[in-house]
Amino acid sequence: MNIVVLAGGLSTERDVSIITGKKVAKALRKNGHKICLLDVYMGYDNDDIADIFTIDYDFTKDIDSIGEKAPDIKAIKKMRTNQAKQCFLGKNVEKICRMADIVFMALHGDVGENGQLQATFDILGIKYTGSGYIGSGLAMNKSLSKKMFIADNVPTPEGQVFTAQDDITTWNSFPCVVKPCSGGSSVGVSIPNNRTEFENAMREAFSFEDEVLVEKYVKGRELSIGVVAGKALPIIEICPKEGFYDYKNKYQAGLTNDICPAVLPDDVTAQLQKTAEKVYQTLRLDAYARIDFILDKDNNFYCLEANTLPGMTPTSLLPQEALATGISYDELVEILVEESMKKYL
Ligand SMILES: Nc1ncnc2c1ncn2[C@@H]1O[C@H](COP(=O)(O)OP(=O)(O)O)[C@@H](O)[C@H]1O
Ligand SMILES: [Mg+2]
Repeated sequence: MNIVVLAGGLSTERDVSIITGKKVAKALRKNGHKICLLDVYMGYDNDDIADIFTIDYDFTKDIDSIGEKAPDIKAIKKMRTNQAKQCFLGKNVEKICRMADIVFMALHGDVGENGQLQATFDILGIKYTGSGYIGSGLAMNKSLSKKMFIADNVPTPEGQVFTAQDDITTWNSFPCVVKPCSGGSSVGVSIPNNRTEFENAMREAFSFEDEVLVEKYVKGRELSIGVVAGKALPIIEICPKEGFYDYKNKYQAGLTNDICPAVLPDDVTAQLQKTAEKVYQTLRLDAYARIDFILDKDNNFYCLEANTLPGMTPTSLLPQEALATGISYDELVEILVEESMKKYL
């Protein structure tokens, strides 16, 4: 097949997406596909695109790793000179995507993961991997996901949503977890222990967006469960060596120990996997996703969120879960394309 692997973009997870894209493109090339690895925002300067799938275009040649901090998006925006400022899609991106059999969404965060690009592609008749616009939108907004979890009896930490105008002194439970409603990769997430830390954490979170979710802190083990084609993979346990699973711990190799399959009583494993599959249904997800949970010492578990375009980087969780069932990275990427193609039958 001719496949565009779409990466980059303008979210705080831009760098993660580029590393996902690079690795996915390599796997798809190995599997025999013709690939164009394209930055959705920067686009492709040359208008001569007729042979784009035979030249192995790859914009990531000089990019090897993810930094310790999320990138400066204002600086990235200034770098683009070849397209109208208000258009998210870079030069020739729409044309090249129309030429593909399918677009592999190697994007994380914001427009690439929140349903906006999915809806645009639906209208343009461009096929893409992963969830559609409704599932993407519901999963990306942690406030909406929580409402859906509560309505469908999916256990989730108690929480409250604040906008920048709201009185935050009504929140009185510490420690708590502060997170921007539409963020990802723990960018802007903090765990304040008292009111002063809480006020600072809220200021920081509001610098990312106007809607912030505050949750009760659940002390426990951190688990994540991939769901492919509606079926749960083995559970992975994430043990950061220091602190919580923040941006640095997520992407710098060696800072967390991942255990897969997680060592849990059989009945807890079964319940968690069933709940992950239910979340996939509740949020109307397609093809694949990864659902995050916390398990407390009494084996009560709480769903934190669903990731519709989970990372596929060298430290990412979904590939490790697939490997635990004997599915290699290259095979997994192929399965994700095949499952996504089924949406269009
Ligand atoms: N209610 C909570 N209790 C304890 N830790 C939490 C809670 N919510 C989030 N965390 C921690 O913050 C991390 C990021 O939160 P999450 O809701 O998964 O958002 P995202 O991964 O999209 O940034 C989690 O992996 C976990 O380490
Ligand atoms: Mg998460």
